[in-house]
Amino acid sequence: MTKNVKISIKNLYKIFGPTPDVGLEYVRRGMDKAELLEKQNHVLGLRDINVDMQDGEITVIMGLSGSGKSTLIRHLNRLIEPTDGEIRIDGEDIMGYNEQQLRTLRRERMSMVFQKFALLPHKTVLENAGMAKNIRGYTTSDFEADARKWLARVGLEGNENQYPHELSGGMQQRVGIARALVSDAPIMLMDEAFSALDPLIRSDMQDLLLELQEELQKTIVFITHDLDEALKLADHLVILKDGEVVQQGDPQEILLNPGDPYIVDFISDINRARVLRVRSVMAQRDNGDTSFAGDISENDNLESVLLKSEGDMTLRFRVVRDGEHIGTLQMTDLARALVPTAASTERNKNAA
Ligand SMILES: Nc1ncnc2c1ncn2[C@@H]1O[C@H](COP(=O)(O)OP(=O)(O)OP(=O)(O)O)[C@@H](O)[C@H]1O
Ligand SMILES: [Mg+2]
Repeated sequence: MTKNVKISIKNLYKIFGPTPDVGLEYVRRGMDKAELLEKQNHVLGLRDINVDMQDGEITVIMGLSGSGKSTLIRHLNRLIEPTDGEIRIDGEDIMGYNEQQLRTLRRERMSMVFQKFALLPHKTVLENAGMAKNIRGYTTSDFEADARKWLARVGLEGNENQYPHELSGGMQQRVGIARALVSDAPIMLMDEAFSALDPLIRSDMQDLLLELQEELQKTIVFITHDLDEALKLADHLVILKDGEVVQQGDPQEILLNPGDPYIVDFISDINRARVLRVRSVMAQRDNGDTSFAGDISENDNLESVLLKSEGDMTLRFRVVRDGEHIGTLQMTDLARALVPTAASTERNKNAA
């Protein structure tokens, strides 16, 4: 599978304050966020961000409150102008866009799903679903069939003529997703889209998004401060702290090799057996192997393998993809992966 960079962010800086360029010089010379605020009275929003977002993938931006997540995503449609740096979409430098190009970018090439749903209260579910098309000058009859199709797809068949206040929060967010899909834009920007929902509904919405994504392969930029959500959704995970990227990559890789104590803290409470997959822990195929306790899939999580093993640490399993033998999983390797070793050793060393 060849990858294509859809959105490329290079050396992006954002300084908030009356003289951002002056702030930028201090930041380039190494001043951190706290010092910049204290001594220069400027806020460091983003520092030297470099992220490539692949076409058809979900890139998750995760970080604590104030780490710069919203600031970053708002650069992608130029709701915020950078202090310095470059943003390319489909290879085009969007800083060079004129008004018309910018409007097309915002209306036709991107859709947004917000935390607070942002539905129009006096419009029906159907009209809300077609909002992006409506703004582009289409009438209800132009988009009705499409809107009905996507509303049905997100589980809202029969709700088309209701008004937003008649729906639960989860249902309103489904309208938000349907609206993004009706707009037909290849890029979806989702800023804490599921954060206001109850845990069970939230989990349903994550499943729905993954299911739709399987079929539609949009380029999705998803912001969250929730690690479980990030691990569930991300093809590529970017972790921000105080406006900087502290680590980015395959989420499995980050779990196995956290590069920073901040990340170690972030991941310390998660259920590793549930999140880690066989493919991240298996050994490459060894031709000498003969006796296996059974077959497992590369995408199984370690918890399911633990169950299958009934706790017998002497076993090893054959890992298969489409019926083909691609690797071997020793239970001892599985056990090792469940211990958050590397980074905590690092941390203990630092503490000593
Ligand atoms: N318009 C602004 N003027 C000054 N500072 C700003 C502005 N917008 C954001 N900031 C600052 O930039 C930093 C990043 O804010 P941002 O809203 O991007 O954080 P976030 O990661 O989205 O947080 P949250 O999880 O709370 O939404 C914060 O320190 C914030 O105070
Ligand atoms: Mg935010």
